[in-house]
Amino acid sequence: MTGVTARVPAKLNLQLAVGPPRADGYHDLVTVFHAVSLFDQVTVEPAGRDGITVTGEGADRVPADQDNLALRAIEALRAAVPDRGTAAVHVTIAKRIPVAAGLAGGSADAAAALVACNELWAAGLTQPQLCGIGATIGSDVAFALLGGTAVGRGRGEQLTPALAPATQYHWVLAFADGQLSTPAVYAALDRLRAARPADPAESEVGPAAEPDLDAALMSALRTGDAGRVGQQLSNDLQQAAVSLFPALRKTLTAGLELGALGALVAGSGPTCVFLAANAERALELAVSLSGAGVCRSVARVSGPVPGAAVVSAA
Ligand code: C5P
Repeated sequence: MTGVTARVPAKLNLQLAVGPPRADGYHDLVTVFHAVSLFDQVTVEPAGRDGITVTGEGADRVPADQDNLALRAIEALRAAVPDRGTAAVHVTIAKRIPVAAGLAGGSADAAAALVACNELWAAGLTQPQLCGIGATIGSDVAFALLGGTAVGRGRGEQLTPALAPATQYHWVLAFADGQLSTPAVYAALDRLRAARPADPAESEVGPAAEPDLDAALMSALRTGDAGRVGQQLSNDLQQAAVSLFPALRKTLTAGLELGALGALVAGSGPTCVFLAANAERALELAVSLSGAGVCRSVARVSGPVPGAAVVSAA
């Protein structure tokens, strides 16, 4: 084989409930992941030694050394199948998912690298086995392999596919002029919670309670009613992201005023996500949002879509 290319989607969190910090520095989550049609492509080719080239959206901000999540995933896969002739590879990542935008682009690339090398090396690992390896690389890698809509627990790596009708949801993503660091946003949430006023009415964030799945969101997803789903979107990291990136408040308000059924910050931000009633409304919203000057650029996507998959092998 001379090369394998895998395609992998970005993720949204339709609910992101965050518990108190754990002893290992992570936070227990309950989240509803949703894979959307914004894809990176990862190609692996046999080479003299491992290496990486990154092209496309934000390529200059992706580490091109052993810190790269795709290369780390490949190392972990190699260690898991030591007897399969896991020769060196050159990895080429074509990015469309913006970097440090709350859309799990780095985790997506790790997932695609796992799928592609599994094929190139004929390693024969199953999706659950790849998910187990992926979870050691990042909290969102397992979901990038699974795709669709799924409930995540633990750090986000314990997944249960959500039973939902085949509804396609139409989203508009508003990309911000800047990035947020995921650890910094979690730390900001911990600080906001620690400084919470006694009167809940004056508090911008909820208490650091054990996270719970939102039954109203799950029920809305089961009906496939975009209006109801839009009302139930929630993200405990949103206030923390807005505290570090105040311009997001204006973007969220603009999207709602322009007719979005719901709005929230994507993961740890700073991308803002808007739900539209259908593809036409999404187009109108995307045009109006870019005209409003409240973001760097916009993209229309739909979901759910499948997780990382091989698209060509030669
Ligand atoms: O797992 P991943 O490398 O994507 O996580 C990046 C950072 O996000 C962690 O180092 C941690 O600070 C924060 N995080 C967290 N709790 C989670 C997931 C991520 O605190 N469940």
